[in-house]
Amino acid sequence: MKREKVLKINKVGKSYGNETVFRNVSLEVKKGEIISIIGRSGVGKSTFLKCLNRLEEIDSGEILLNGKNIIDYPVTELRRRIGFVFQDYNLFENLTVLENLTIGLTQIQKIEKEKSIKMATNILKEIDLLEKKDKYPEELSGGQKQRVAIARTILMKPDIILLDEPTSALDEEMKESVLNLISQLGKEDMTLIIVSHEISFIQKISDKVYKLNKNGLELEKPKKGEKIC
Ligand SMILES: Nc1ncnc2c1ncn2[C@@H]1O[C@H](COP(=O)(O)OP(=O)(O)O)[C@@H](O)[C@H]1O
Ligand SMILES: [Mg+2]
Repeated sequence: MKREKVLKINKVGKSYGNETVFRNVSLEVKKGEIISIIGRSGVGKSTFLKCLNRLEEIDSGEILLNGKNIIDYPVTELRRRIGFVFQDYNLFENLTVLENLTIGLTQIQKIEKEKSIKMATNILKEIDLLEKKDKYPEELSGGQKQRVAIARTILMKPDIILLDEPTSALDEEMKESVLNLISQLGKEDMTLIIVSHEISFIQKISDKVYKLNKNGLELEKPKKGEKIC
């Protein structure tokens, strides 16, 4: 079966003032694919992800989501369709874990409260954090916070999830639970774009790995004996 194209990025360029961050970035992402992006610090990986859901605006080229230019989507809809998981979790500190999960469902998706609590409870069971549902983010470990942030994004049923260095703020022990959750998403046919330095992990789970540089994305060839399927 031919998979449908979710995202098409066509010769995109981005500058801050006179400073060109990157130009000529093109990429196609099909439904269910896992694409990883690597590149040195400061090369523009975060900027690139931000351009996809218009946290930053591009200067040239175009980005199509399901065949439609992202500038033609209402921003709220675009950000629901392209979920963003940040390095530093971005949870609401004044809301409990359960409330962090239900707020988008009730306020953006207009799902009624009782149903949203049920959905949030189910996902907390899946990520093994149900007993933390009434805790506040500051009472969680970094790994637990990041799993809640990922769960919050999944609940919005986005077309694509962007993960920007999702484990870089975590120590080795906590990384594992987050990486396990990400590979689980891959198995469940979610479409993911991951920026990460966890090379062996991303080579294992990605369909394609690209390196970002100033002049675009370059496909990384798997090393002999390694499989990027
Ligand atoms: N809001 C901004 N205004 C001006 N320059 C920025 C802004 N955000 C990032 N930059 C610059 O753009 C470049 C790329 O940054 P970034 O996308 O964060 O890189 P990476 O995520 O690959 O480390 C860096 O030189 C950074 O200083
Ligand atoms: Mg970054």
